[in-house]
Amino acid sequence: MQPGGTPVHTMPEPLTILCIASYHKGQTFLREAKRQGARVFLVTSESLRDADWPRESIDEIFFVRDDDKRWKLDDLLLGASHLARRTVIDRVVPLDDFDLEKASALREHLRIGGMGETTTRYFRDKLAMRLRAVDAKLPVPRFVHVLNEGAIRRFCAEVPAPWVLKPRLEAGTIGIRKVRNQDELWPIVDALGDRAAFHLLEEFIAGDVFHVDSLVDHSRVLAAVASGYGRPPFDVSHGGGVFTTQLLPRGSADERDVLATNRAVLSAMGLVRGVSHTEFIKRADGAWFFLETSARVGGAHIVELIEAATGANYWAEWAKIELAGGKTPYVPPVLREDYAGLVTCLAKDERPDLSAFSDPEVVWRLDKKHHAGVIVASPSHPRVAALVTSYAQRFAEQFSVFIPPGESPRD
Ligand SMILES: Nc1ncnc2c1ncn2[C@@H]1O[C@H](COP(=O)(O)OP(=O)(O)O)[C@@H](O)[C@H]1O
Ligand SMILES: [Mg+2]
Repeated sequence: MQPGGTPVHTMPEPLTILCIASYHKGQTFLREAKRQGARVFLVTSESLRDADWPRESIDEIFFVRDDDKRWKLDDLLLGASHLARRTVIDRVVPLDDFDLEKASALREHLRIGGMGETTTRYFRDKLAMRLRAVDAKLPVPRFVHVLNEGAIRRFCAEVPAPWVLKPRLEAGTIGIRKVRNQDELWPIVDALGDRAAFHLLEEFIAGDVFHVDSLVDHSRVLAAVASGYGRPPFDVSHGGGVFTTQLLPRGSADERDVLATNRAVLSAMGLVRGVSHTEFIKRADGAWFFLETSARVGGAHIVELIEAATGANYWAEWAKIELAGGKTPYVPPVLREDYAGLVTCLAKDERPDLSAFSDPEVVWRLDKKHHAGVIVASPSHPRVAALVTSYAQRFAEQFSVFIPPGESPRD
């Protein structure tokens, strides 16, 4: 009300969402946020100034100086604070795994709602995930923080090798090593010096690796899709060959078990809203272990895989969930119950010829130099499984080339 006057009716301000993407990610998220009527700000790396961002969906774009995509947190905090002097920022959303800490630090600094620093740890730090899982009585591989020498020795005495040495804060199997005995372990630990404490060491669980991709609101898993990798991701990144994953048969014992464990994990870690890609190992004897979780969509074209099977695009759903922000209702999509499988590999040819992969079930082809990739989809699980097996074999024979980890740039 103006003093003594009539009410002033103003149009409601659009919500302002600030997206953080140190890597070139999330175009579909940005487009959907705009489509939903938000004002969309993107903060990205200076080195990605010329990347093909969906500029028509972005109101303002800001660049942060980067050293190979790494930022000084202060640059983000000060830059965003400057922006917040003239604009109220309603949401802060990280579009890549490595941006979660930046987003939570910024939320805490500006006192914006959403996942704070404590919870973010559970979705980024593999040691924090393990400890939280133990508190919640979830099955995890036995592990030790690579910190105290006595504790590491006790772990080595109790837990039979091989072990997995992994960085707490990486993704995409970067820096993960299999260690066969203490003779191998200690030189690595010594070489890491004080950086060793950024690692954990854990029991190697031989088995199959699965992933569940979830949409979450009000701390409830509203949609979840369970899939199984062909070979474990570690074997593909360290041994080369073809990467596959496909949806599990709906109603199967594996699907039921992994969906239930997924709900328990996300509840224990405290995901209130957003998306999650969470991984599990099933040991040969049938026991399930929680491998890792995240508060982002799956990488490696898993978004396209799920869309092919269900019709739902998780980037777009994530944008809707974040904008609803727990304040307005978010209605999850009804998932179509088809099946899909993804087959990819590094290719020796710059542009591998995929034209022979012409079954009517092929719904997507990867368009990326030195990569081959297809997604097949069908209402029939056996049909998808048969195509994945035969395509994986043909990819191995025709395209596959091995580039050791660390020698191909992260995409
Ligand atoms: N404890 C473990 N036992 C067996 N394999 C493991 C274990 N930890 C990791 N791996 C292998 O390494 C891969 C990557 O490990 P993960 O913890 O998921 O880290 P990233 O964030 O790099 O994906 C897994 O998919 C799996 O193949
Ligand atoms: Mg993983």
